Amino acid sequence: MAVRPVLKMGDPRLLTPAQPVVDFASVELAQLLVDMRDTMYALNGAGLAAPQIGVGLQVVMFEVNANPRYPDAETVPFTVLINPVLTPLSDALEEDWEGCLSVPGMRGRVPRHVALRYQGFDAAGQPIDRSVSGFHARVVQHEVDHLQGILYPMRIRDLRHFGYTETLFPGQNLQDD
Ligand code: NI
Repeated sequence: MAVRPVLKMGDPRLLTPAQPVVDFASVELAQLLVDMRDTMYALNGAGLAAPQIGVGLQVVMFEVNANPRYPDAETVPFTVLINPVLTPLSDALEEDWEGCLSVPGMRGRVPRHVALRYQGFDAAGQPIDRSVSGFHARVVQHEVDHLQGILYPMRIRDLRHFGYTETLFPGQNLQDD
């Protein structure tokens, strides 16, 4: 078990597209998943992508419990998603606030597809195929963006809607994610 340092925006490894996982039975993958989960939980993140701890593989994980920023958002079960493929289910986009462990202390309004299908593989190499919407869809898009070297500030359409969390949301003591 290990909590790994999370790379911050400006590190070129966050801008590098990740490679697919080929060997689902490797010790290295199992260790990566343990380290990612330890790191995500230690930092209270809603999700984490392998490139954020400097590993250039197509591995993300996410879990959403009750979130004060999204009081109406559904919870999302802990999910490991490997080699993901996203397919939007409509052209509808929705803007909402996002943060990122690699952009600590900040929030921005990011447009995302409202509904999408995601496919990939779980930690055991079994297929995952889910159609989701709302905050679940947002989290998946944010994490999978990391695998393509995209950080959420790159998607903000109006940079007036980008700022420091404690200034945007004073007194709310919000976590990074
Ligand atoms: Ni992020």
